[in-house]
Amino acid sequence: PVLVVDFGAQYAQLIARRVREASVYSEIVPHTITAAEVQAMNPSGIVLSGGPSSVYETGSPTLDPGILQLGIPVLGICYGFQVMAQQLGGEVSNTGLREYGATDVTLAPGDSTLLSGQPAAQTTWMSHGDSVSKAPEGFAVLASSASTPVAAFASDERRLYGVQWHPEVKHSEFGQNVLENFLHTAAGIPADWNSSNVIEEQVARIQAQVGTGRVIVGLSGGVDSAVAAAIVHKAVGDQLTAIFVDHGLLRQDERRQVEEDYVASTGVRLITVDAVDQFLDALAGVTDPEQKRKIIGREFIRSFEAAAEALVLEAQGDGASIDFLVQGTLYPDVVESGGGTGTANIKSHHNVGGLPEDLQFTLVEPLRTLFKDEVRAIGRELGLPEVIVSRQPFPGPGLGIRIVGEVTRERLELLRKADAIARDELTNAGLDGEIWQCPVVLLADVRSVGVQGDGRTYGHPIVLRPVSSEDAMTADWTRLPYDVLARISNRITNEVAGVNRVVLDVTSKPPGTIEWE
Ligand code: XMP
Repeated sequence: PVLVVDFGAQYAQLIARRVREASVYSEIVPHTITAAEVQAMNPSGIVLSGGPSSVYETGSPTLDPGILQLGIPVLGICYGFQVMAQQLGGEVSNTGLREYGATDVTLAPGDSTLLSGQPAAQTTWMSHGDSVSKAPEGFAVLASSASTPVAAFASDERRLYGVQWHPEVKHSEFGQNVLENFLHTAAGIPADWNSSNVIEEQVARIQAQVGTGRVIVGLSGGVDSAVAAAIVHKAVGDQLTAIFVDHGLLRQDERRQVEEDYVASTGVRLITVDAVDQFLDALAGVTDPEQKRKIIGREFIRSFEAAAEALVLEAQGDGASIDFLVQGTLYPDVVESGGGTGTANIKSHHNVGGLPEDLQFTLVEPLRTLFKDEVRAIGRELGLPEVIVSRQPFPGPGLGIRIVGEVTRERLELLRKADAIARDELTNAGLDGEIWQCPVVLLADVRSVGVQGDGRTYGHPIVLRPVSSEDAMTADWTRLPYDVLARISNRITNEVAGVNRVVLDVTSKPPGTIEWE
């Protein structure tokens, strides 16, 4: 792999993604990694990320100097560039001049491996206080900016390179080209990492891990579990059984899409647990959001366990056992939690005779190395239905936390219709790419006066909550075109009985959360 050394902030994940967009597999490692550990991983290249610190601060993150002596091609970015300059005998100075945002740089005359084919004047994205004032001995200065005499340097002989700007950020005009020049030309790494390789690799890994064992997976209707299950099925076929709990809080048509479209395209053996009555009974009379979440979580585990236990018994009847549980863990979760263990316990609330108290499974995590956009690409490669592959994030508690007030069958039916209309119109307007997700919320305990036909109405408002976001940690409300909002509003008030008003949520996160409950 190419190792991306993480010096803090959010840059490392973005760099890792861009390297993969260049069809090269990348992994993120902490800056505390030693030269010996790097060597053991046998990387074909190393990228040092940016970070929020100054190389002058005491306690600022450092790099084992041995890493630059291994003969492995290295590209330093921003803070990583300055760390390189310092370790290799160049100079970094604290000029007091900051460059932040779009910054013009001028390339030195003549061609270079790193900036090959790029225009002499270009716009880059920078964010730094310190600057490299002198390149290390034997290094060529490739570019400069108004306040940075050395904005890029290179030694082709030692295969060490650095740029002050952030090539991973889209605002750097030729950023991706810098990364590609480093990877493909300077480091000579072929562009051969793609969806079909990933699938092949994972299939082999899963077959080796699972052998002839049996496996279960919980499908949520979302992208991650759907793709994870599809890969595992490709690897071990009907040794896998998928469990899908219909808690009655799904959106319109979701159950059918899983039971019919997903099953038809993958061949996965599916068991649907119809737990609608169970969930709605448990939610009756409950209005507090936290209590709703707890109840939904608890009932979900109960339903899943009951189905899993039935499968365990079935396996025992065949003289086999179920040893594995598939989880759709993604790479950002792995990086953020700093690793992760390999087993999960499912507590058993209602033991069936002869079963152990806890069902214990070994985890199978085929998406552990992947980012979300890569999971979608693999889903497409596996032939999954587009409605599932391109699905926006949808919370586990489903529509249960999008009804402000008590959850009832009638209210769910009403919200389902309104939600389907909003999604339909947003898709038709080609806005899916701009929107991270658009919760549609029913204010079930609020009524307002309206007029329709000849009569006065007293109905409920529907809230549209379209947001744009990178990771759901922060979000802004999406500025949807007025005509699209008008169409959604007209259709919902005309087609959904009981709703006489549509309102738009114009709150960013923070202070609002994305969901209303
Ligand atoms: P908030 O409302 O906290 O939501 O801004 C952030 C993101 O998380 C989703 N969300 C959930 N997802 N189980 C989930 O799987 C949950 O209980 C849950 N609550 C919120 C929400 O849709 C948004 O994408």
